[in-house]
Amino acid sequence: MGLLDGRVAFVTGAARGQGRSHAVTLAKEGASIIAIDINGPVTPDNGYPAATPEDMTETVRLVEATNQRIVHRQADVRDSAAIESVLAEGVAELGGRLDVVVANAGISNWNRFWEMSDDQWQVMIDINLTGVWRTLKAAVPIMIDAGNGGSLIAISSSSGIKSLPAQAHYAAAKHGVTGLTKTAAIELGEYGIRVNSIHPWSVVGAMGQDTTMGAILDKHPEYRASFASMLPELRSADPLDISNAVVWLASDLSRAVTATQLTVDMGATKM
Ligand SMILES: NC(=O)c1ccc[n+]([C@@H]2O[C@H](COP(=O)([O-])OP(=O)(O)OC[C@H]3O[C@@H](n4cnc5c(N)ncnc54)[C@H](O)[C@@H]3O)[C@@H](O)[C@H]2O)c1
Repeated sequence: MGLLDGRVAFVTGAARGQGRSHAVTLAKEGASIIAIDINGPVTPDNGYPAATPEDMTETVRLVEATNQRIVHRQADVRDSAAIESVLAEGVAELGGRLDVVVANAGISNWNRFWEMSDDQWQVMIDINLTGVWRTLKAAVPIMIDAGNGGSLIAISSSSGIKSLPAQAHYAAAKHGVTGLTKTAAIELGEYGIRVNSIHPWSVVGAMGQDTTMGAILDKHPEYRASFASMLPELRSADPLDISNAVVWLASDLSRAVTATQLTVDMGATKM
């Protein structure tokens, strides 16, 4: 018996990293998966390699190895029509219900705010904030129609609570996700749909290897003081640490929890 037997979960940014881990961990608890990812480069401002179609193929293999079904498409969270289309197909194929949404797709890059191009600012907001809104907006009518309640989980960041230097656009987007989540929780409570955000600090993966971060810290070593946590031995969490929080929020174990900002951050936001 899994915590999510018979349920259907939609995960964005599922080709690799935390999104892949969320898809596989939710599947291990019994959920069928609908997965999307852009599977390719997003912006030259990112100083780390993009996900690939082969990455998504590996996610599919890992989910299927749990004996769960997965419907996957290449789609951009900036494209509402594409999200609606994959959800319509996935929900029809997987039994007519949608129980869990993990709005995880995101990007990261670094610069002082007055040195960013308009494009660097706007692409960040379009993906990391508006992309979450588009994801939830596409999913909610299906969940209300299905009438089973459900759980929406937005992957914010420690930067959705506490800001870092050289990431004004990222912090603005992730703080925006916090506000969106809280309003959505108020509006969806009457439908039995809970809405919460998760706030990781550093997590192992490609995003943390961004060369634009090292460059900005070399140029402004005083910024390093902002990068402290209470558990210095655990420098970065594993994707599974975040997935365990996702499963808890997705399942009935957290049935009394909504509008919460769940930090999985080694205490970093309280420093
Ligand atoms: N890595 C960290 O240290 C860290 C810390 C806190 C929060 N986060 C957040 O966690 C989430 C996952 O990050 P990750 O560490 O797994 O990074 P990642 O780069 O490995 O994964 C992000 C995935 O999102 C996809 N994606 C990006 N833009 C997209 C778009 N427009 N449409 C569809 N898919 C898109 C990418 O292709 C990629 O597969 C992000 O929202 C990120 O901001 C990461």
